[in-house]
Amino acid sequence: MNSDIPSLDLDLLPRHIAIIMDGNGRWAKKRSLNRIRGHREGAESVRDIVRACREIGIAVLTLYAFSSENWQRPQKEISALMSLLKEFLRSELAEMMENNIRLNAIGQIEKFPNDVLEVLQEVMDMTRKNHGMILNLALSYGGRDEIVAATQKIAAEIQAGRLQPEEITKEVFSNYLYTKGMPEPDLLIRTSGEMRLSNFLLWQIAYTEIFVTSTLWPEFRRGELIQILHDYQKRERRFGMTGEQIKKASPRQ
Ligand code: IPE
Ligand code: IPE
Ligand code: MG
Repeated sequence: MNSDIPSLDLDLLPRHIAIIMDGNGRWAKKRSLNRIRGHREGAESVRDIVRACREIGIAVLTLYAFSSENWQRPQKEISALMSLLKEFLRSELAEMMENNIRLNAIGQIEKFPNDVLEVLQEVMDMTRKNHGMILNLALSYGGRDEIVAATQKIAAEIQAGRLQPEEITKEVFSNYLYTKGMPEPDLLIRTSGEMRLSNFLLWQIAYTEIFVTSTLWPEFRRGELIQILHDYQKRERRFGMTGEQIKKASPRQ
C-alpha cells in the first residue's frame, strides 16, 4: 500500500468519484504540441488515477471521456480519440483483471465505430465478474440524453401496463439510468478550472461535493487526488439539514 493512503480517514472515503477530465487541448497548446498529444498524455493520468482509486478502495470511479457534444469536434480529433480509446482498453485489460476492476460504459456507445465497440464489448465481457471497483467510462455520454432515454423506457413500461404513473418514484426513476444500482457520486472533480457541468451526470449529482482544480488533466495525478480527498473529508455534507442535526447523527464529522 502506498504511504499516502493511511493519512486518509478510511471511514470517510467517497464511495463514488466522478471526474470531468478537461484541459488536454490546453496542455498541448501550452507546449506548442498537437491537441492529440494532450489526449495521449491525458491517458497517462487516467492510468494513474484508476490505480490510485483502486488502491484507496473507491467502489465506483466514473470518468467523462467523451461527451455527446464532443461529436462536433474536428473529424481528425475524433478519430484520434477513438484510436486512443482502443489502445487504452487493450493495454489496460491485464491490469484490470489483476486488480479486479470491472469496466462499464455509460452513454450511447452504439454511436461508436464497430472496431472500437468490439474492443469495448470484449473488455466489458472479460471483466464482468470483477468486483474490486467499477470503472465507468462515460462515452458519447450526455446527461440530458440519459434522462430522456430513461423517460422513454418508463413511458413504454406504462404503455405495456407494467407500471403505474404513481409508482414512479425517485428510486424507480434511478433504476432506468445507466448508473442503476450504483451509489451516487459523493465527489465530482473537474480539472482545468472550468466552472460548469457540461451535461455530466445531471440527475446523479444532486448532492455531490464539487471540486474544481485549475490543473490541466494531463498534469492531474495521484498526489492531487489525495489532497482533494483530504479536503473532501473536512467538508460537512448537510443534505438540506442544519449543521447541528448532522453532528448529532454522526458525531465524527
Ligand atoms: C478533455 O480535454 C478531453 C475531451 C473532452 C475528450 P479537451 O480536449 O476538452 O481540452 P481543452 O478543454 O480543449 O483544453
Ligand atoms: C467535457 O469537456 C467533456 C469531457 C471531459 C469528456 P468539454 O471540453 O467537452 O466541455 P466544454 O465544451 O468546455 O463545456
Ligand atoms: Mg475541454
